[in-house]
Amino acid sequence: MSNTKTPQPNTPQDEVYLPSAEIIAQANVPNPEAARKEASDNLEAYWARRANELEWYKKWDTVLDDSNKPFYQWYVGGKTNIVLNALDRHVKTWRRNKLALIWEGEKGDVRTFSYHALNREVCKFANVLKSMGVSKGDRVTIYMPRIPETVIAMLATAKIGAVHSVVYGGFSVEALHGRIEDSESKVIITADGGNMNGKKIELKKIVDEALQRTAAPENVVVVKHLGSDVTMEAGRDYWYHELMNLPLTRNGLRCETEVMDAEDPLFILYTSGTTGKPKAILHTHGGYSVGIHATLKDVFDLKEEDRWWCTADPGWITGHSYIVYAPLIAGATSFMYEGAPTFPYPDRWWTMIEKYGITVFYSTPTAIRGLMRFGPSWPNRHDLSSLRLLGSVGEPINPEAWRWFHKNIGKEKCPIMDTWWQTETGMFMLSPMPVMKLKPGSATKPLPGIEADVVNEEGISVADGEEGFLVLKNPWPAMMRTIFKDPERYVSTYWTKFPNMYFVGDSARRDKDGYFWIIGRVDDVIKVSGYRLGTAEIESAFVSHQSVAEAAVIGLPHELKGVAIHAYVILKSGHEGNEQLVEDLRKHIAHELGPIAKPEKIEFVKVLPKTRSGKIMRRVLKARAQGMSEGDISTLEE
Ligand code: WTA
Repeated sequence: MSNTKTPQPNTPQDEVYLPSAEIIAQANVPNPEAARKEASDNLEAYWARRANELEWYKKWDTVLDDSNKPFYQWYVGGKTNIVLNALDRHVKTWRRNKLALIWEGEKGDVRTFSYHALNREVCKFANVLKSMGVSKGDRVTIYMPRIPETVIAMLATAKIGAVHSVVYGGFSVEALHGRIEDSESKVIITADGGNMNGKKIELKKIVDEALQRTAAPENVVVVKHLGSDVTMEAGRDYWYHELMNLPLTRNGLRCETEVMDAEDPLFILYTSGTTGKPKAILHTHGGYSVGIHATLKDVFDLKEEDRWWCTADPGWITGHSYIVYAPLIAGATSFMYEGAPTFPYPDRWWTMIEKYGITVFYSTPTAIRGLMRFGPSWPNRHDLSSLRLLGSVGEPINPEAWRWFHKNIGKEKCPIMDTWWQTETGMFMLSPMPVMKLKPGSATKPLPGIEADVVNEEGISVADGEEGFLVLKNPWPAMMRTIFKDPERYVSTYWTKFPNMYFVGDSARRDKDGYFWIIGRVDDVIKVSGYRLGTAEIESAFVSHQSVAEAAVIGLPHELKGVAIHAYVILKSGHEGNEQLVEDLRKHIAHELGPIAKPEKIEFVKVLPKTRSGKIMRRVLKARAQGMSEGDISTLEE
């Protein structure tokens, strides 16, 4: 069954793809416009209906409390725990025997967990955490490779009402140190290391180095995954497998799930913003559960029989919402892979889609562009006919990559769900649903209950086709509640530029069909290969090198990564800018922040363009680098 398509290459906005009769016949949401109308007629009734699809210890008294804007509260008075819906309710039914998780390591090792088995591991580890004195509200840092214990650790933390802070395993010493310190974590959960692209990433060593820079948390739990040598500090570091086998936990195969208020914190997740200090986005148990559940079901049309694969890392919001929590809430079978898409050959992903019979596949534009380079012969040698839906997230997808994905992976029968959302939004915000008409490169329309707009500097809606700031005009259940320890920054970053509107930080256009086209960030956030990095965080890592006096970084378009980092560096006197120093600096940034932050290009300069108040004008650097007009530079000092 193939899609009807009308490609008109010169006018991408009019190139449309329609779903097949088969897709329409099975859609969870047969009429998106009716769903949108239901939500806009009565927002609270809509979100009450969606919340009623889940189990609660006690139902809410108020769906939405907006008496203290922008500190919105959802399902006030409700009692729940995300684990009640992700595990507890399934193990009471036939689903206890269903696979919750299929995992494959980069070396080809396979592990599977039924809902029953996953629940057992989660209960045991929850008891381990309790025995270490972790209780409701305490923070736990999770710094792990992509292995099942990451999922177990997150669920166990949530189960006892503690708050997890997952730090992406690709981050390095300084990024980890800052996040451990700010979260004041009681325990760190890590592993000896992980496999990535044939290399060993030695996470425990990075933890040890990060802990030398900070007041140590009480305990470090280490999963033995690689079996490599690590230093274990007596009284602080413990092996996961030893703790899990203590008589205490063997007897504790059961663990009561902590009953939480809907508004109690579930996790914090650090993300880059406009200052050097990453902000800890805080999400809660109740609204977050409802939001991610409703959106996964509607957008990816999830069915009992599906095998879902989201290629993200659990350390990012995509992994939190759509690898760990929402698929489990749906009672689905999720697949998770440890390593790189091109290891050992560029068909590793396609091999696994075939082997496991994946039905819904959710990935990123960078990965698609990267695999596209190797040509269609790699996917063509595999049977990908199990696939019925595809997805994309993290950055705008260029129409060329969209078409390649649609043709060579989806064989022109799988609609692509281009989901636009953020760490802060917790759930998909703009996205097609399978029955909708698609346009390559557009995230289409706001989902039911979401009101998005494109506005000018004054906050007034711009005309169709004009570029402006993307804003959100009403609250949604999975929205962030605050920035941990910094509520003022929550208000000033998101709710101050335009009164009563959530400021997204992206620019966008809307076409005559009401379809949104995301253009890119308008703030100091750089999306390298879809990974979110702050200019200030990278600049401060530069300055921590002994040769650097000052640095400015910008993002410039890059064929593969979408955006790449370019750095302008002023050296301290006595240092010479040469090839060797460029290499040293790139290594230094990778060591401090992680390999993803490695700049594409480093240029040594004598001065940086600044405003009179001393703020670096990255806009001017960007314009110069791209050979464009520098715009209004009358406020420039130099
Ligand atoms: C960008 C990732 C275009 C956007 C879930 C947003 C996208 C930022 C898309 C959030 C998309 C995400 N099309 N751009 N489908 N999805 N973005 O917090 O700039 O890592 O503001 O969350 O990614 O990045 P974050």
